Amino acid sequence: MKILGIETSCDETSASVVADGKYILSNQTLTSLKEHAAYGGIIPEIASRRQIELIYVIVQEALDKAKMTLGEIDAIAVTSSPGLLGSLLVGISFAKALAKAARKPLIEVDHIQGHVYANFLRYEQDTRSDYPALPAIGLVVSGGHSSLYKINDFKKFELLAQTRDDAAGEAFDKVARIMGLGYPGGPIIDRLAKEGVNDEIIFPQAKMNGSLDFSFSGVKTAVLYHVQNHAKDTNFSKAKVAYAFQKSVIDVLVEKALRACAQNKIDTLLVGGGVAANSMLRNELIKISPIRGVKVYFPPMVLCLDNAAMIAGLAAVLMSKSRLTRQCNFVIN
Ligand code: KG4
Ligand code: ZN
Repeated sequence: MKILGIETSCDETSASVVADGKYILSNQTLTSLKEHAAYGGIIPEIASRRQIELIYVIVQEALDKAKMTLGEIDAIAVTSSPGLLGSLLVGISFAKALAKAARKPLIEVDHIQGHVYANFLRYEQDTRSDYPALPAIGLVVSGGHSSLYKINDFKKFELLAQTRDDAAGEAFDKVARIMGLGYPGGPIIDRLAKEGVNDEIIFPQAKMNGSLDFSFSGVKTAVLYHVQNHAKDTNFSKAKVAYAFQKSVIDVLVEKALRACAQNKIDTLLVGGGVAANSMLRNELIKISPIRGVKVYFPPMVLCLDNAAMIAGLAAVLMSKSRLTRQCNFVIN
């Protein structure tokens, strides 16, 4: 089963060929991220215009790299939601047209579920024998989402908790903006925090009265006030602020993800989304999970960010009659 995946939910234009829902034969991604940096966030108009220009080339590249023709592909998968409307439309319209012209089934895939599925993908040269098993708790932390899911099987994700305001990645991006660090903020704060380890600055952690839901707008505002009140202090250190902010966010993510495992008596945790690339999150979960009887999995770094391989991979699992949204096996007039 060879599936061509297409992902255009945000600033990336990505296409990938995945075999048997597991092996990545190609995964080609281009991003317009640099063009958005001056604005401190994604400008949807710029993202979708660039995707219109890139999508044909990227899809062709993905097929070439996999040494396959469109005719040899069994189905086409596309991110259906969530995402920027204009960007999603580019991918969906392209995928629908391609599926119709090539008379292939089209499978629509949820972007968030794709992020969790990234844990199941392998490159052919990947020698890891350790493969996650379901049931699992999924922690998806990205620029748009911070959610916990109970996953019994890939056709049924049960939402356990989500953020009530900012997503974790959004908080990283906004705090970086407050400190004038650049965009996207996550990787910059991750790097800077390593130089600012301290216990002098403590930012609040939203416990949400015992709920598993998240809230990151409070810590963001606390950073804003801290910077406003202390930026002129002689010993003011952006690195220390970055560390304290990151610790506040990561402590909450780790605690709630492991609590979700305990409450549901599940011992597998699958982490996904851009913030899954964060070194403190990875280190803390790798350190604490075994103590709490949980086995934690992260995708390789490149598969934490938006990519079409996770869409093509999950599509193979979903490819049953109930999920085929378009049987494009008809003649075009
Ligand atoms: O999953 P993704 O590529 O796009 C969405 O679906 O949103 O995630 C992008 C987000 C951005 O907010 C970015 O700042 C954050 O992931 N991010 C990180 C790191 N790398 C990317 N956040 C914290 N630490 C990182 N190393
Ligand atoms: Zn994403």
